[in-house]
Amino acid sequence: MITLLVGTQNPGKQREYRDLLAALPVQWVGPSELGLAALDVIEDGQSFEENARLKAQAYAHAAGIPALADDSGLVVDALNGAPGIFSARYAGPGASDADRYQKLLWEMRDVADDRRTARFMCVVALALPDGRWYTAEGALEGTIGYAPKGDEGFGYDPVFVLPDGRHLAELPPAEKHAISHRGRALKAFEPVLLRVLSGLERDL
Ligand code: IMP
Repeated sequence: MITLLVGTQNPGKQREYRDLLAALPVQWVGPSELGLAALDVIEDGQSFEENARLKAQAYAHAAGIPALADDSGLVVDALNGAPGIFSARYAGPGASDADRYQKLLWEMRDVADDRRTARFMCVVALALPDGRWYTAEGALEGTIGYAPKGDEGFGYDPVFVLPDGRHLAELPPAEKHAISHRGRALKAFEPVLLRVLSGLERDL
């Protein structure tokens, strides 16, 4: 079985990939298992896709095995698409998830109900040590709430409201994966992932 490196240092993403990849015939490892816990990829791309590719390629290059990475974030219409690709850095270095969503709530304090639309975006990328790379995208539509709710998930989940009124952080993991930007990106990516990885396995 091919070993795949899941190139993320984010514990929330690591948890989600553990579930999302469970059904696939791949064995996967995290950066710390390969001594790459300190690898810091400079995300200087202009899009989710570019940053996802940069991350996957950096991990594949460092580890010498195929690597999967994602770039994701929250796109808020009333803020002209912010925080977008800067979602992880929205409240500066050293900030917590709560610092970031509190800043978002503050920026949205005067925005009316019908202008609070937003979407989570995720581009997942697979990079091979020989330089080849592949991507797929997923999105989840919703609105920004007025206060945090729920203890599940990570990041901006407590302030992201689904069309049924529940906050994303209220959903158990399996329910989030079935509809989330990351779950959808990975579902769309599955055929590519299986084709590329089984090709590699044949060449071994
Ligand atoms: P990056 O992809 O590592 O640059 O960071 C993505 C950032 O977007 C995370 O640190 C979170 O703040 C946010 N984000 C991405 N996916 C999710 C999600 O599923 N729920 C909540 N926040 C997310």
